[in-house]
Amino acid sequence: MSEPIRFLNALGQALSAMTLYEERHPACQRALDVAYQELVDLQSRDPQPVFTFLGDEILYGNRPLRELKSWEWGPRLAGAGIQRLAFEHAVNRDEFEGFLADALTRIVGLSVSTAEARQTRSSPIRFGMVGLREERPEVVAEAPPPDMTLSLSAEADTVRWLHDEVSTRMALPLAEAEAVVASLGVAMHGEQRILLPLLQLKDFDQYTTTHALNVSVLTMALAEYVGCTAPEARAFGVAGLFHDIGKVKIPKEVLNKAGKLTPEERQIMNNHTVEGARIIIENEEDLDMAAVVAYEHHIMLDGGGYPTLKFRRDCHQASKLVHVCDVYDALRTNRPYREAWPSEKVLSYLQEKAGTEFDPEIAQSFVRMIREWEPRAVALETEEARAG
Ligand SMILES: [Fe+2]
Ligand SMILES: [Fe+2]
Repeated sequence: MSEPIRFLNALGQALSAMTLYEERHPACQRALDVAYQELVDLQSRDPQPVFTFLGDEILYGNRPLRELKSWEWGPRLAGAGIQRLAFEHAVNRDEFEGFLADALTRIVGLSVSTAEARQTRSSPIRFGMVGLREERPEVVAEAPPPDMTLSLSAEADTVRWLHDEVSTRMALPLAEAEAVVASLGVAMHGEQRILLPLLQLKDFDQYTTTHALNVSVLTMALAEYVGCTAPEARAFGVAGLFHDIGKVKIPKEVLNKAGKLTPEERQIMNNHTVEGARIIIENEEDLDMAAVVAYEHHIMLDGGGYPTLKFRRDCHQASKLVHVCDVYDALRTNRPYREAWPSEKVLSYLQEKAGTEFDPEIAQSFVRMIREWEPRAVALETEEARAG
C-alpha cells in the first residue's frame, strides 16, 4: 500500500515544483525524476494503477487512501476535470512530464508554454471524469483536446438523475453535483479563452435540467468575471445547479402549464424556494450557501419577489449572481406560455431593472460579460429526452 501513497506525494511535489519553477529548472527536473521513479516502482507491482479523486477522497483502485485525506492536489485534480487517472501500461519519462504539464495547465486554467499538447493519443496515461452511475468508476470522457466539439450530454444525464434522486429518494448526491460543476468549469476553460457552453432546450420536459446547467455555467462565469476565486466560483456553480431543486416537488401540470396559474398554483410554484432550501439543508449541511441561494434567488433588491422576508436584509452575493443568471436564462428560453426573448431584449430588461430588482453592479457586470462573451457562447443540444 505504500507505493501508491509515495507516488501521489511525489506527484504532488512535482506539480508544486512546476508551479514555482520553469519546467527546465533543476529543482523541477529533480521533482519530476523522483515522481517518475515512484511511478516505475508502483507499476512494477501494479502495471495498471488507477486513481480516483473525488473531493477529499482518493481511491487507489477501489480502496480509499485515507492517509491522503488532506492531500491538497486531490481536489485540485478533480476540479480540473481529472477525477480518474489510469496508467494503461509502462509510461516513459516524456509522457509523464507531458501529462503533468497538461494537468497543471488545467488546474491553473492558463496556457503555459511548457504545456504544449504533448499528450498524444498513444499515451498510456488516461484521465477524465468519472462515470457517475457505475459501481466502479469508469472513464466516460477523455479530457477534451482543444478542438473537441463540446457536448454536455453526460452532464445533462447526471443532472436528470440527480433530480430523480432528489424527488424519489430525497437524497442529494453532492459528489456527483460537484463533479458536474467541475466538468462545466473544464468546458468553460476548454480553450485558451472562456467559453459559455449553454444548452438549448428542445423539449419542455428537459427545462429543469437544461436550466439548472445553464444557470450553473452562467453563475460560474459571472463569478469569475467579477473576480471571485476558482473555488468560490465552483461553490457558486453548485448553488446555481441546485437553485430550483425545490421544483422537483411541483406537479408537471403546474410546472409546464401554458395558461395563467391560479393563486393556489402560484403559491405551490413560489414555494420551490423554501422547499429547495429545506431539501438542501436536510441532506447536506456543507451546502448552507446553496440552501441560502435556493431560498433567496427570487428576492428582489427592493424586497419584492418571494418569499417575503420579515426583516429586510441584504441577500447573499451568490443569490444576487444566481438571480440575474436565472432571469437571463429563463427569458432566453421558449416556455409554454412565452416565446424566448432575443438576447438584447433580455439585456435591456436587466439594465432597466438594475437597482430595483437586481443589484446594479452585478446586473451591469452581467450585461458586460454577455456582450463580451456571447460571441463565444456555444449552443449545445442535449440528446432527445429518454422515455420515462
Ligand atoms: Fe427559481
Ligand atoms: Fe430558476
